[in-house]
Amino acid sequence: MTGARGQIGTHIRKLLPEDWELIATDSKTLDITNMDKVEQMIAGFQPDIVINTAGYTHVEGAENDSDKAFAINAQGVLNLARSADKHGLKMLHLSTDYVFDGTKYTPYVESDYPNPLNIYGKSKLAGEVAALAANPDMLIVRTSGVFSSATNSFLAAVFNHAQQGKTLSVVGDQIFCPTYAADLANALITLVQDYPKLRGLIHFTGGVALSWYDFARKIVATAGLDTALVEKIDSTQQPIVRPKYSVLASEYDIRLPVSSIEDAIKASLSAFLA
Ligand SMILES: NC(=O)c1ccc[n+]([C@@H]2O[C@H](COP(=O)([O-])OP(=O)(O)OC[C@H]3O[C@@H](n4cnc5c(N)ncnc54)[C@H](OP(=O)(O)O)[C@@H]3O)[C@@H](O)[C@H]2O)c1
Repeated sequence: MTGARGQIGTHIRKLLPEDWELIATDSKTLDITNMDKVEQMIAGFQPDIVINTAGYTHVEGAENDSDKAFAINAQGVLNLARSADKHGLKMLHLSTDYVFDGTKYTPYVESDYPNPLNIYGKSKLAGEVAALAANPDMLIVRTSGVFSSATNSFLAAVFNHAQQGKTLSVVGDQIFCPTYAADLANALITLVQDYPKLRGLIHFTGGVALSWYDFARKIVATAGLDTALVEKIDSTQQPIVRPKYSVLASEYDIRLPVSSIEDAIKASLSAFLA
């Protein structure tokens, strides 16, 4: 598994069934943009599956560093997909609601046409297309707004601001489904274990659609802090364009458990409130 120190990689590591043997890599032990290193690692270990949780995830940063975003999110993914295919291995990869332009205003399903608005979304879509073409045994899980107690997460930023009594400006006109990292990790493990023949694209998110503003207020309220510190702004005040509506739904009849948003926020905040 790549990206093992990232938010999602960390949760997969924590929740992994005991009978799985995991080879966990980070950007130092395996830079996925280096095809020779990718091939050496996969040929050397011959795993049953390659799980890619590595990615360039800084949405604003991608606008100024599109080469890096594409190198990691497109070329790096292609490297892994090619090498996995060469060795006859399945691969699990993660993608995003930001492949859509947000103009549908009803939940996006797997067969909906993508049309990303920003560089991050474009680089992730390029990774999807390259991975699916390079390896027929590819499963790509699109998700959105993943949260946890990770110190670099939206939840942590909101909590820290509110705890210090600072006002936060949060967009009220972008709707998405916040996804609890532990639910996602469990869903990924279940998809690999119980649905070994599943291929292509599948959507998985938390069960509630919210604006970022409403999500921030829920975090602040759950922490017992003052919700008046959260101020609603309009997306025109944001530096880069993002989809206004990126709720995902699935055409698959596969039940994967999700926590209530309240329980998931509480569990994530417990790391800060302890
Ligand atoms: N977070 C979300 O809301 C969200 C939503 C939809 C989709 N996704 C997708 O889910 C995946 C994981 O997200 P996350 O939230 O776990 O992100 P994250 O916390 O930013 O972790 C990403 C990891 O990628 C690793 N990485 C970066 N460049 C690399 C390279 N060249 N070679 C190898 N590893 C590299 C980093 O490793 P180091 O720590 O070693 O630098 C980092 O740990 C990404 O593909 C993202 O696009 C995330």
